[in-house]
Amino acid sequence: MSRDKISELERLLRQRRSCRRFDDRPLSIDALERLLFAAQGCTSCDGKRTAPSAHALFPLKTFVIARRVEGLEPGLYETETIHKEIWQRLHGIHPGALLPASLADDIWLEDSPAVIVVAADRQIAIDHFADQQPDGLRGVRYIDFEAGAAIQNLYLSAIEQELGGVVVMGYDDDLMQAALRLPTPFQSIALFCVGHPAASR
Ligand SMILES: Cc1cc2nc3c(=O)[nH]c(=O)nc-3n(C[C@H](O)[C@H](O)[C@H](O)COP(=O)(O)O)c2cc1C
Repeated sequence: MSRDKISELERLLRQRRSCRRFDDRPLSIDALERLLFAAQGCTSCDGKRTAPSAHALFPLKTFVIARRVEGLEPGLYETETIHKEIWQRLHGIHPGALLPASLADDIWLEDSPAVIVVAADRQIAIDHFADQQPDGLRGVRYIDFEAGAAIQNLYLSAIEQELGGVVVMGYDDDLMQAALRLPTPFQSIALFCVGHPAASR
């Protein structure tokens, strides 16, 4: 099939690549809020979001590690899903705190201007779907699937904003949990390091 015109979505999909090197420019809050909207933005009055969720359970929640973000003191932030303008700083993250959890010395965990943490209440999903599969693994599978949808949305939003990013899942879960200190009951499922791409990546 030949087509003269490439749609905007096709353009973004063709450009989607992982970027692991960033320049010194800070991220704007506006750019971060667009990313967060893409990942898990609320798009209807009944609470539905940009990414699908089994049984509309929506067990995911995003957090942000801000390092170089205009107007934000460095640290771990929680944002309100609906009112994205509300940013609550939870605590600081020491430089170098994430790297020991990496299985491959992913230095971009430390030098990206921001890391978006896609986290989940795993237990709520395990309990909810236990009747579909008694070992509880169905809830875990659904969470991983939903996080993947959120991450793909993040990639596309980053490209659309001429930013670069990479998903990181190769880390020790316990070490990362200890480094992030997410509020109970959330556990990180995937991280997305994001910033302005360095000239050569
Ligand atoms: C499930 C999953 C886990 C990944 N984990 C990491 C990771 O820990 N560190 C990393 O640098 N990249 C990670 N990546 C990114 C892949 O390395 C990357 O997508 C792959 O090399 C293809 O390159 P592209 O994204 O530029 O097309 C991961 C990707 C996926 C889908």
